[in-house]
Amino acid sequence: MNIILLGPPGAGKGTQAQRLVAERGMVQLSTGDMLRAARDAGTPVGLQVKAIMAAGELVSDAIVSALIGERLDSMDEGTGAIFDGFPRTVAQAEALELLLAERGRQLDHVIELEVDEAALIERVCGRYTCAKCGTGYHERFKQPQVAGVCDVCGSTEFKRRPDDNEETVRTRMEVYRGETAPILPFYEERGLVSRVDGMADMDQVAAAIEDVLSR
Ligand code: AP5
Ligand code: ZN
Repeated sequence: MNIILLGPPGAGKGTQAQRLVAERGMVQLSTGDMLRAARDAGTPVGLQVKAIMAAGELVSDAIVSALIGERLDSMDEGTGAIFDGFPRTVAQAEALELLLAERGRQLDHVIELEVDEAALIERVCGRYTCAKCGTGYHERFKQPQVAGVCDVCGSTEFKRRPDDNEETVRTRMEVYRGETAPILPFYEERGLVSRVDGMADMDQVAAAIEDVLSR
């Protein structure tokens, strides 16, 4: 099974993708994570995208489509893909169609996480991750069980994304409305879109996604 999780910044795409990885053995293909890894490693792609990401603008379609193609090539045929943060433009949606067809894969579901944008600012600006293992936390919604200590690996170091400030989050939301939301009709024409209430608590969102996947 191959699915897309679609929604504005903070909608919970990464959160739900991680659950599906743990529960269904699928692979998460997050272009945001791939670009951050390239940026942190200082690769040529990383150097090229650093300022664009910090401003909340979109990296070129060619760069992200190439990253997705490489990642698909490294996967076993039978393993399902969760596209998280990709595609983000109509051109990327068209590129994905080709990338999947070339590999004998097809798209099964596009799940749109519907959210209230005002609440997203708080979600995004309050989140942080363990610097060692990457587990995600939130100042209000998901604190470690022991304050200041990662539940998973015991590390006491945490980090925040440079683009998780209010001004940049607002830009990212505008970019979502202008560039990414227009891909919905593309997938609606193909009968692939299901909508899930992304404002429910995390377990309820996960259950609603399971419901879609079992159809
Ligand atoms: P990317 O990394 O994809 O960021 P994004 O789309 O802005 O999404 P986020 O990671 O911010 O949010 P999310 O929906 O995953 O939410 P999360 O689960 O963390 O992209 C970053 C940048 O890279 C882009 O701006 C662009 O520059 C570039 N880029 C990436 N892909 C690209 C592409 N394809 N083309 C061009 N450029 C690209 O949840 C957020 C917080 O809320 C967490 O703290 C979580 O714990 C909490 N939370 C989640 N669900 C719930 C819930 N139900 N209730 C309460 N809290 C919740
Ligand atoms: Zn950790």
